[in-house]
Amino acid sequence: MKCETKPFGKTAAGEQATLFTLKNDNGMSVSVTDFGANVVKICVPDKDGKVADVALGFDDIKGYEDNDNYLGAFVGRFANRIGGAEFTLNGVTYKLEKNDNGNCLHGGFGPYGIKMHEYEFVEDEDSIGIIFSRLSPDMEQGFPGNLDYSVTYTLTNDNEFIIEYFANSDKDTIVNFTNHTYFNLAGEGSGSVYDQLAWIDADSYTPTDAELIPTGEIAPVEGTPLDFRTEKPIGRDINADHIDLKNANGFDQNYALKTKAGDATLVATLRDPKSGRKMEVYTDLPGIQLYAGNFLNATGAKGGRSYKRGEGVCFETQYFPNSCNVKAFPYKPLKADEEFNSITVYKFVNE
Ligand code: GAL
Repeated sequence: MKCETKPFGKTAAGEQATLFTLKNDNGMSVSVTDFGANVVKICVPDKDGKVADVALGFDDIKGYEDNDNYLGAFVGRFANRIGGAEFTLNGVTYKLEKNDNGNCLHGGFGPYGIKMHEYEFVEDEDSIGIIFSRLSPDMEQGFPGNLDYSVTYTLTNDNEFIIEYFANSDKDTIVNFTNHTYFNLAGEGSGSVYDQLAWIDADSYTPTDAELIPTGEIAPVEGTPLDFRTEKPIGRDINADHIDLKNANGFDQNYALKTKAGDATLVATLRDPKSGRKMEVYTDLPGIQLYAGNFLNATGAKGGRSYKRGEGVCFETQYFPNSCNVKAFPYKPLKADEEFNSITVYKFVNE
């Protein structure tokens, strides 16, 4: 196992960013950068040993400075949408940035995915990792509390890419981190993922209004095109006549998982029958956003390519969107001096 480093460009402010490539003994590698703790590449062998980069992204940090499609993005302080861009905690209403139809999306503008992070390596016999950390100051993006957080990216010899989040705050606050990597198991830039098959171990999901704010309901997937309890191609039902598919222009829903805090459970898979690559998603979080890249429109990506609708799919593990405002959703604010932690694993196998 080893980690290679190389320069990844300079920020507009002149800071030098680095690309760290974690390599295991089976030909798999994961590249991440201290600029925004973004995930840049995930190179995975197929059943014949042919390696492809299965993560959409950019060749240097310029793309990540203006990454409005959130390619590979580390998202904080609160993933997905907060309705009306406000929430109330301990009787105080906090106003957030309105960056999505008057709502707050992925914490607001920046800064998690665009700030330089400190780093530290962690290594043992069968894994190699890097810890990125930063202090998010009190009221950054409008959220209370100085939040000391870290994201650890680890690659193991079992082809697991492990993401662990830790955080603590000096004031009560809300935290919901996710990773927004778009996967294409045939390789980034190879076209649509609609023929790739997804499975999600969820009996229910959270319907939304037309602005993709949850209605507060937790509805069964049974009998709807949103049912992924039996593996099916992502494209099969994506244009079906269903209000939630219409609202989101395709799959972009939060599924309610049967997980337990602290216990990473297999919740979803993605499989590409042609290459034989399969990805298993494990998490201890209560929700996962299946986002089939409905609004994807990125230019100047790797090799100068563009990515369009459906050319990547995200499995964003998370607390439910707007859970800070909906009593019926499983969510607890982070108390001052308590520790937030969660784990998500993307494991690659061949079938
Ligand atoms: C997803 C979200 C989508 C879209 C996307 C970014 O997490 O569910 O609605 O906003 O991020 O383009």
